[in-house]
Amino acid sequence: MNIPSSLIRKQFIDFFKAKQHTFIKSAPVAPNDDPTLLFTNAGMNQFKPIFLDQQKPTSPRAVNYQKCIRVSGKHNDLEEVGVDDYHHTFFEMLGNWSFGDYYKEDAITWAWELITKVWKMDKRRLWVSIYKEDEESKTIWLEKTDIPENRVLKFGKKDNFWEMGDTGPCGPCTEIHYYVGDDISGQSSKGVNCEDDYREFWNLVFIQYNRDSNGSLNDLPNKHVDTGAGFERVVSIMNLKKSNYETDLFVPLIEEIEKISGKSKDFESGVAHRVISDHIRMLGFSLADGAIPGSDGRGYVLRRILRRASRFGRTLGLKDPFLYKLVEVLSDTMGEFYAELEDNKDYIKKIILKEEESFGLTLDKGLEVFSSIVKDTHEKDEISGQNAFKLYDTYGFPLDLTELLAREKNLTVDRAGFEFCMDEQRARGKKSSKFSSNKSTKDWIEVLKVAHSDFLGYEEESCLSKVAMFRLDGGKAEIVLDQTPFYAESGGQVGDKGVLRSDTFYANVFDTQKTGDKIIHFCIVKKGDIRSQTEVISEIDHIRRNNIKLNHTATHLLHSALKEVLGKHVQQAGSLVDEDKLRFDLTHYEKLSQEEISMIEMIVNREILKNILLSTDTKSFDDAKSEGAQALFGEKYGDLVRVVDIPGFSMELCGGTHVSRTGDIGSFKISKESSLASGIRRIEAVTGLMAVERANEVSSQINDLKNVLSCSSDSLLIEINNLIHSNKSYLKEISRLRRIEDRQKVKIMVDGAEEINGCKVIVGSLEQTENLKSFGQDCIDQSKSPTILLIGNIKDKAPLVVCAVSNDMVKKVNAAEIAKSVSKVLGGGGGGKPGIATAGGRKPEALDEALKVGYNEIISRI
Ligand code: SER
Repeated sequence: MNIPSSLIRKQFIDFFKAKQHTFIKSAPVAPNDDPTLLFTNAGMNQFKPIFLDQQKPTSPRAVNYQKCIRVSGKHNDLEEVGVDDYHHTFFEMLGNWSFGDYYKEDAITWAWELITKVWKMDKRRLWVSIYKEDEESKTIWLEKTDIPENRVLKFGKKDNFWEMGDTGPCGPCTEIHYYVGDDISGQSSKGVNCEDDYREFWNLVFIQYNRDSNGSLNDLPNKHVDTGAGFERVVSIMNLKKSNYETDLFVPLIEEIEKISGKSKDFESGVAHRVISDHIRMLGFSLADGAIPGSDGRGYVLRRILRRASRFGRTLGLKDPFLYKLVEVLSDTMGEFYAELEDNKDYIKKIILKEEESFGLTLDKGLEVFSSIVKDTHEKDEISGQNAFKLYDTYGFPLDLTELLAREKNLTVDRAGFEFCMDEQRARGKKSSKFSSNKSTKDWIEVLKVAHSDFLGYEEESCLSKVAMFRLDGGKAEIVLDQTPFYAESGGQVGDKGVLRSDTFYANVFDTQKTGDKIIHFCIVKKGDIRSQTEVISEIDHIRRNNIKLNHTATHLLHSALKEVLGKHVQQAGSLVDEDKLRFDLTHYEKLSQEEISMIEMIVNREILKNILLSTDTKSFDDAKSEGAQALFGEKYGDLVRVVDIPGFSMELCGGTHVSRTGDIGSFKISKESSLASGIRRIEAVTGLMAVERANEVSSQINDLKNVLSCSSDSLLIEINNLIHSNKSYLKEISRLRRIEDRQKVKIMVDGAEEINGCKVIVGSLEQTENLKSFGQDCIDQSKSPTILLIGNIKDKAPLVVCAVSNDMVKKVNAAEIAKSVSKVLGGGGGGKPGIATAGGRKPEALDEALKVGYNEIISRI
């Protein structure tokens, strides 16, 4: 049997199109517009505002195939991936939707019609599960389809009540399962939702509630249908395969892995081939949608997956970067349906290669360290949090990679200890996450029914508005107006600030955001009560908006100039436009040289001087693309798009606000260029008077330097280099003197140590020690007799204790165990080897107490 996946995809779409469903493009898998989601994890994500009545659907019925990733949060399948045949980090979901239109009966009977009449699945293998309280669905299954009663099973909330995340639209569901096993007559209802051979492949959700942040279920104004069929599972079922990896979606990738590694797909039961072919899909699609490997949030998920795949490559003997080589096959396999893969192929390859190269530098060493950690864990079955952190911090091993390696050795990892070490590191200087929200949780009060807020801000900077909805939280308010000149943050441009006022009411708007089709003004109420005055004059901060406009148009000029100077591979990977500056992240593989920066500045300033008249137009997405308009990475575009044209130089799809002529920008200066992630550079720049200010600042800084160093501009560099050089030698000298001092302290301590049962026991605290651990080791090395040492100090407000035990005492006293007990008192983690170990924590005030506990433990053992 060989039914191409492309045919199955087409049959699904055509079936629902024939039932008046409108085809909707897949939304990006790394969404820019939903802060509650790291990745799109279901077909319904892009319709969430419709379910919540925040946005009107363009059509009441929709059908699509959607790119999904499930590696974090409520829906996370990572551990099963590659171990079994049908869980994936990246998969496609086929779906049909009703937005307040048809409901359970049509959803169920159409699903049954498609699978039994069009796809002709074997009815003897089909099972259905329903929510235990959903009698209505049961009746429909039994009366409107020919499924036998004993094949319709009731389940509880865990299996048959679907929720997108901790909050959001949800409802009871009915799922369709297919038995892939060999024993048709031996099937049993007990296998459903329990055994691997019973594959759940289609979930029909009846969305009728919204779960709010307090955990309560609230009725939605309308009832909706949200269905999701796992495409890979459907394709394998239709081709009578037990494994998704045996379908044409994966076979080309698996064959390429066989070719690159020289190892057949059956090598060590094929786990590595499956994991790698799965992970490259996740990586390729996320990168194509603009996600970037990084050290937190979404970027760190990408890095974790890439590193996991790299390590599985090692098990196939692949020492050099290899994942990037699979991008070509991925794009050949999927590019027909997802042009972004084909369009960004070279970029994706380069980013993956860079990441592989940088992890490759530490992976082998990290694996060696892991083996020695395993040896040192002796009979214990746990890898300490400190060791897991060391693998993370020094060798770049994500915790789940260490856990995977540990599982292979039947070990576990002390997660709490690891988290503690992470917390400590975070406390030492972590930035706050991007994924946060300061929205109020109070209820909305509706004054006037409006489907959406009219945005007048392309032409007007103030207007008369009526309040449609508001919610109050102390002195703060969130207000939705029927029409507004306030621009809501999007496309990198920050939201407008300004005022809402009437005779009796006055509020400062400090931010503007969009939810669905509604524009929300975040305000501080200065005077009056919005309840009594619902007509207001809304007026933006004109000067601020003007500065934003300069920066936004300059961003478009910069984008084109970058392509001109650096090459066509440059893509916008992110941007921020506010009143002070513009920030532009671009895909590029190396630091920009000073010449390149100057050339870019020159080109942008040249286009400013030409004083070109901008034009904006609204047209269909396809027309805009064919005229050469630049669409941005990972952005979700509707059918109609706004095109901002700077004739002869730049044309971009953009909803932002712009100057009328390029000359309005005045001047442009790049203020900073830096690395954001591998393959991504960040440029910051200023415009108008800010650019002049920036130039003045630089020259006054140079003047200050000249004065401090009493030298001329010409010798400035030489003077600074001399200073750096002498500073380095002073630091070296201080360190040398500290070590001498330490050695003297060692001698005094060893000579004066108390002796218990023939063993010298040295316990105490020491300030100003250069390196506490090597100090402990020195003491042990210099003592000729049995010795145990437990010393601590406080550095940068953090307590640290080292325990060192001479070889002849390790049988009685294990330093790692002492360190662990000490760390508990310090409120932290500890560990190491039997001869030497360290402990740390958050409680510097408990150092004396911790040393006392350690001392008592030591003497109880000798
Ligand atoms: N939202 C449901 C799911 O993800 C059906 O599409 O399973």
